[in-house]
Amino acid sequence: MIIGRAVTKKFGNLTAVDRLDLHVRSGEIYSFLGPNGAGKTTTIRMLTGSLPPTSGEIEIDRKQYDRDEIEIKREIGVVPDEPRLYENLKGIEFIEFIKGIYQLDPIQTDKRFYELCAAFDIDFLQTYIGDYSHGMKQKLMVISVLMREPKVIFLDEPTVGLDARSAKTLKTLLDKFRNQGSAIFLTTHILEIAEKMSDRIGIIRKGRMVAEGSMEELRKIGNNQAHSLEDIFLDLTGGNTAPDTL
Ligand SMILES: Nc1ncnc2c1ncn2[C@@H]1O[C@H](COP(=O)(O)OP(=O)(O)OP(=O)(O)O)[C@@H](O)[C@H]1O
Ligand SMILES: [Mg+2]
Repeated sequence: MIIGRAVTKKFGNLTAVDRLDLHVRSGEIYSFLGPNGAGKTTTIRMLTGSLPPTSGEIEIDRKQYDRDEIEIKREIGVVPDEPRLYENLKGIEFIEFIKGIYQLDPIQTDKRFYELCAAFDIDFLQTYIGDYSHGMKQKLMVISVLMREPKVIFLDEPTVGLDARSAKTLKTLLDKFRNQGSAIFLTTHILEIAEKMSDRIGIIRKGRMVAEGSMEELRKIGNNQAHSLEDIFLDLTGGNTAPDTL
């Protein structure tokens, strides 16, 4: 469902993403890990069509952005790291706006929408988005995406700002979507989420993939059955030495 071939992004002299190859299948959760500034958000922005790659190819469900941008955007759901929402709309008006632009079936969508509101304990949609906390905006963004039941879902650090219960709800829902056949690509700094939820994990450093595979395969790279994802991650990203000053 998601294919990247030698995807590269340069910002001036900086190569933020360097010849990245990616494959995510239907019914798979793929976690994309890497230190701050490694290129995760830049990769998601390219995969979701909001930033053109400098070189390389991207295919989403066998379609390419230069030919089928509208079709792809109809099929994908994107939860960005910073929800950018219309502050002068009420939550419910934003939901109506999404239903309108995606031409969603009103009855089916409403049913899913009310289920999601109940699952996330959302009772604030009659007030203005400008007055929401970060977590409230994040929840609104999440339900506006999940109510469309997209075939391909991208989430950039989706649990940041969510309380423990909402984060758990999101994890349960993503599991359900995976089981229904969606392809899910997410970034996170919470290694426990990656370890518990994902079918495969990719680790990047300075724009380059340094390891990829299931937890089991990554443990073999670490060459020790007892290796935790944290150890593997820190080894591969050069962070496994505590600063001397501590
Ligand atoms: N629009 C831009 N212009 C110039 N440089 C950029 C731009 N966007 C990202 N970068 C640079 O590209 C690199 C990768 O940034 P990116 O946001 O993809 O990292 P990240 O892996 O998402 O990090 P974090 O974990 O902190 O979210 C960084 O060095 C960043 O400064
Ligand atoms: Mg980021």
